[in-house]
Amino acid sequence: MKIFVTRRLPDSIMARARALGAELHDSDEVLGDGARAALLHDYDAILCTLGDRFSADMFAGDLRCKIIANFGVGYNHIDADAAKGAGITVTNTPGVLTDATADLAMTLMLMALRRAAEGERMVRADAWAGWTPTQMLGQNVTGRTLGIIGMGRIGQAMARKAHYGFGMEIVFYNRSAKELDFPATQLATVADVASAADIVAIHAPGGAETKHLFDATAIAAMKPTGILINTARGDVLDEAALIDALQAGAIFGAGLDVYEEEPVVPAALRALDNVVLLPHLGSATLKVREAMGDMALDNIEAFIGGHDVPNPV
Ligand code: GLV
Ligand code: GLV
Repeated sequence: MKIFVTRRLPDSIMARARALGAELHDSDEVLGDGARAALLHDYDAILCTLGDRFSADMFAGDLRCKIIANFGVGYNHIDADAAKGAGITVTNTPGVLTDATADLAMTLMLMALRRAAEGERMVRADAWAGWTPTQMLGQNVTGRTLGIIGMGRIGQAMARKAHYGFGMEIVFYNRSAKELDFPATQLATVADVASAADIVAIHAPGGAETKHLFDATAIAAMKPTGILINTARGDVLDEAALIDALQAGAIFGAGLDVYEEEPVVPAALRALDNVVLLPHLGSATLKVREAMGDMALDNIEAFIGGHDVPNPV
């Protein structure tokens, strides 16, 4: 079995992959489309990650590849239907990054409500003239209403933290009906959640089915004091419509960890003070990234051993 790893991963994972005889692209650079397509012809197992696009056309013809183990929970960069059509198993790494990603969504929510990034910029610019009763007034966190778009694992983790930690009321939109073990109200549409919530947090997977799920209409339904958080995928949110709303002061602010054309963050967004901007840090802790790497390799090892893979998509 020939195994290929497309990107530099934590040291312990690189060591384990090396011990399995894998070939490593020990670099942060994303391989070109041609080189990536060639992997499907040359290797039995590919461990890939975010940014490694495997489009439908790459799955045409006679391929050696039998398993693509994605390092990450979101796999919208892989055409999973086309992979399946080519007889290739695709796996991902759910669960191990749930809390870390929800924690980062909490971070963005707290920072946006309390204008923390703006304050930090002021201090660093040596522009702070001292405490005043009316300086940089933000909004309360405790007791507010949080709207969750997509009540999967990460949405539920965020809702629990917000409800039990900050006494927040939870409303949510989810494509299918959800029974939950904490108090939360499911609403019929995304716009219903947008208008009922003080803060809206997007936790739906990316891909064609959810493209611009949170669109200009949903943004227009938000309260003027509303805050929008996105740690899911950039294309779930209409980024241009959000920029318009932030520029017009139609909502209070936003917190983003993901973007439509990563790593491009529009200059119009970077120019705004009422948005917190992070570089896709959702799962970025060493422990979580090691767990993701182990999970991806567990799937490859199970496959090689002729067992059911633990995490098929
Ligand atoms: C990261 O964004 C992931 O999908 O795991
Ligand atoms: C503020 O610093 C206060 O003491 O109320």
